[in-house]
Amino acid sequence: QTKQDAYGTHQAGIITPQPAAAIIVVFDVLAKDKKGFEKLLRTLTDRITFLTQGGQLPQIDPKFPPLNSGIMGDKVFPDNLTMTVSLGASVFDGRFGLTDLKPQYLQDMQPFPNDALEPESTDGDLSIQICSNTAETCIHALRDIIKNTPDLMTMRWQMNGFLPPHMIRKLGKDTMRNLLGFKDGTSNVDAKNDALLNELIWVSDHANSAGEPAWAKGGSYQVVRLIRNRVEFWDRTPLQEQETIFGRHKLSGAPLGKPNEHDDPDFASDPDGKRIPHDAHIRLANPRTPETRKNLILRRGYNYSQGLSKSGQLNMGLLFVCYQSNLLNGFLTVQGRMNGESLEEYIKPFGGGYFFSLPGFAKGEYLGQGLIQ
Ligand code: HEM
Repeated sequence: QTKQDAYGTHQAGIITPQPAAAIIVVFDVLAKDKKGFEKLLRTLTDRITFLTQGGQLPQIDPKFPPLNSGIMGDKVFPDNLTMTVSLGASVFDGRFGLTDLKPQYLQDMQPFPNDALEPESTDGDLSIQICSNTAETCIHALRDIIKNTPDLMTMRWQMNGFLPPHMIRKLGKDTMRNLLGFKDGTSNVDAKNDALLNELIWVSDHANSAGEPAWAKGGSYQVVRLIRNRVEFWDRTPLQEQETIFGRHKLSGAPLGKPNEHDDPDFASDPDGKRIPHDAHIRLANPRTPETRKNLILRRGYNYSQGLSKSGQLNMGLLFVCYQSNLLNGFLTVQGRMNGESLEEYIKPFGGGYFFSLPGFAKGEYLGQGLIQ
């Protein structure tokens, strides 16, 4: 499928299978009041509908700048594009008269013990997750948005992500590798199970969403983390140690001591952590106990690579993205449990933010309409 639906109960780009290219871009809103903010949301809705569905660009008088960058010629094609719009806590600070409508767990990102958050790459008013088959389509969409909103918002930070196109998940059979060389995405929330999604991913009538404002139903908390990987150091680490850090075999992706990628890690039969240590990434991330079921999150990350760091090392890592119906039960609890994990020696989170992905919209509606009304 090359065209993703623009309309629906939920925005596209959350349970949508991941295409190869992504940009996460975070803006600060320049609009001064609620009317201006509404104009921004209406403009975003119009542009996103056009860009994701495609169509002919009108000819214009050459005395004026072109309507569009031209990267895709004069006929825009969908190319699997999704553009997911989410709001940061700062949007609810009073500027737009929305203070009482903030999703209850939305907040600025506070550093965890291993974090070195850079203010210029952290938080912000509004994020757009742009995903498509190619970097060019993502860039085309980003430039279209910037060109159409100069008086309404300004860019704060941005990160480009990629996945190996030759391994893009086919019929659920293949799992992509991250830049540490491990399969990433083996264990994740099943995006085809609606009951599970309403419990764990979408704000809904489920008890996990108790206390959320009515407008938020159909939305989801989005977490973005920019996590640098110390790849030179990692590449000099013995294979055995790499595997113990994750709790999985590097080549097959199988849990340690098991033959197949999708075998159950079976922590219950390993209470002393002899097979999979207690501080292994997968054991901390998902202990698989009845009480930790409510902590499951939907991960949708990308690799990133940005040339060299100031000290001459490869600047690459994980553009971590996850979604959940309850930020406290989801990412905040999972990351809290992973504080001090042995992987920390090899990773450095330096930015990101918490956002609330708006519910979807029907034809004739605009994104965030329930919030503005
Ligand atoms: C699983 C890598 C950061 C949550 C995994 C797996 C790998 C991996 C290789 C095993 C394969 C799989 O089940 O998908 C990484 C790397 C990270 C990172 C390289 C940082 C650079 C995080 C963060 C979180 C997280 C920040 C959330 C706070 C999870 C979860 C699982 C997982 C929930 C699935 C565990 C399971 O159900 O067995 N990660 N991860 N990871 N990771 Fe991470």
